[in-house]
Amino acid sequence: MNKSLRKAVIAGNWKMNKTPAEAKELIEAIKPLVKDADCGVLCCVPYVDLQTALDAAAGSNIEIGAENCHWEESGAFTGEISAKMLTSMGVKYVIIGHSERRTYFGDTDVTVQKRMRAALNAGMTVILCVGEYLEQREQGVTAEVVSSQTKIALQGVDASELDRVIIAYEPVWAIGTGRTATADQAGEVCGLIRSVVEGLYGKEKADAMTIQYGGSMNAKNAAELLAQPDVDGGLIGGASLKPADFAEIVKAAVNG
Ligand code: 13P
Repeated sequence: MNKSLRKAVIAGNWKMNKTPAEAKELIEAIKPLVKDADCGVLCCVPYVDLQTALDAAAGSNIEIGAENCHWEESGAFTGEISAKMLTSMGVKYVIIGHSERRTYFGDTDVTVQKRMRAALNAGMTVILCVGEYLEQREQGVTAEVVSSQTKIALQGVDASELDRVIIAYEPVWAIGTGRTATADQAGEVCGLIRSVVEGLYGKEKADAMTIQYGGSMNAKNAAELLAQPDVDGGLIGGASLKPADFAEIVKAAVNG
């Protein structure tokens, strides 16, 4: 696998953290530390922080994204936000299908596919999250789970849209637990995802796709994980809230 065929992207997922004032402070702190990054740098932030984060990141190499979006453009969906609302404020990136959305808020493979479709229709770039629960890994069905999540989410996605899709492999047992997948485990499943994409769209598209690992990635373990041939970046939770740690991970990204 040739990493020069695709872009490394390090993305922070702030989850439900930071007020707008704190978001400004965090972006301002990250900005100088990543200004010479050799990879894409993205911070996905709570909806209420988006405008502040966009303003704080303006003119820098930091992109700003949201953490979810609804599949309809507008309507009676109390508490939801549409892709069109996000793009109207200049947000170009969105995380879809995070395991916390699937586990706590009822997202399914089908609703993930619908959200993904809506985000792509709006012209956004999507970070699609897939990953198995611990029991599934122990039952030996990781490959089946991750393959089917990937295939269902990509249903209806045209090959011409794939340059706006990033897939993040996030084993649920590694998220926020401090229990990172080994580099081999991360590399193996990211490779499997690439083979699923190849089966659907062909080798050229699969080789060009950015596939991230996420789950307790930090300043210490990032280099080893990112050295895996099929791991093209990271989706970072806890460590993305610490400027120095996030910057270390950005430095560890291997681009080409
Ligand atoms: P942690 O890095 O805190 O484990 O979170 C990973 C994650 O869920 C990113 O989306």
